[in-house]
Amino acid sequence: DALTVGVDVGGTKIAAGVVDSAGKLLAHTRRETPAQNTEGVLAGIADAVRELAAEHEIGAVGIGAAGFVDSRRTTVMFAPNLAWRDEDLRSKLSARLNLPVVVENDANAVAWAESRFGSGRDHDDLVAITIGTGVGGGIVVGGRLLRGGYGVAAEIGHITMVPYGRRCGCGLQGCWEQYGSGRALVTEAHEIARHSPAFAAGLLEVSGGDPDAITGEMVTAAAQRGDVAGLHCFDEIGRWIGLGCAQLAAVLDPSLFVIGGGVSAAGEVLRSRVETTFRSNLTGRGHRPVAEVRLAELGWEAGMVGAADLARTHPDTAVTGR
Ligand code: BGC
Ligand code: NA
Ligand code: ZN
Repeated sequence: DALTVGVDVGGTKIAAGVVDSAGKLLAHTRRETPAQNTEGVLAGIADAVRELAAEHEIGAVGIGAAGFVDSRRTTVMFAPNLAWRDEDLRSKLSARLNLPVVVENDANAVAWAESRFGSGRDHDDLVAITIGTGVGGGIVVGGRLLRGGYGVAAEIGHITMVPYGRRCGCGLQGCWEQYGSGRALVTEAHEIARHSPAFAAGLLEVSGGDPDAITGEMVTAAAQRGDVAGLHCFDEIGRWIGLGCAQLAAVLDPSLFVIGGGVSAAGEVLRSRVETTFRSNLTGRGHRPVAEVRLAELGWEAGMVGAADLARTHPDTAVTGR
């Protein structure tokens, strides 16, 4: 059975993995994302794939890219948190790698992986929300990925949450990802450490006293040991994420929300907060079924697994039967 490689290209890291037809990750490797250097990102992806291809026989490559991917699955038209502008990833990478390549949005890849192999196995209608540098979305309707008229459905991170609010990399103001992302979590931590150092003592202790040295991992670890400031940061983003879920439920009525992305490593600390706000803001509550809120079962592997599976099943790259 042919193997494929899935590559998850986010705002801060490139993760590539060899995946089999059952969605099992057999090997993986990582690179930093030089976010403002498109040639560096391309070189990083190619290098990671070559490393894996040296040890495994690979039939195709799927890229889960953190940006707006066109309907032909070839080009990243725009990326709010990376320098890609009309970047034909598929041509450039297939030329370098000599392999068929398919490009998909990173959060769509997560949604696909979770619906096939993860916490959405038993659901046909789900919304995956990835909480990382940005906020990504993938929508599965009736068992199929919703791509929209131009390939860019489910750009949920750019729903206006706060009219005329914080500036976003997409050019708008007040986007959901400015309030519910990993970056928002860290910004909140920096702010409270600067303005309320006593309250943030637990965070400052691990960052060597420097407010700006507090990382997302530090906030997560603090929250998990019950630190008040760490928990406060999760109260903040959890509330915004839950509120967004309620808006999406009004439009899409999924039976499941899957919370993925790097910040979902926080686990129940995040999930429970999202669920609470989602439930209390859901229209018709008390008179309708309520969607479940689960964590991505495939965790950090989901983007790679989904991209690899899409490479396997995409008509132009299909490796089955070869
Ligand atoms: C981008 C999406 C991406 C998400 C998560 C957003 O800023 O617009 O395309 O899926 O970040 O990486
Ligand atoms: Na998406
Ligand atoms: Zn935006």
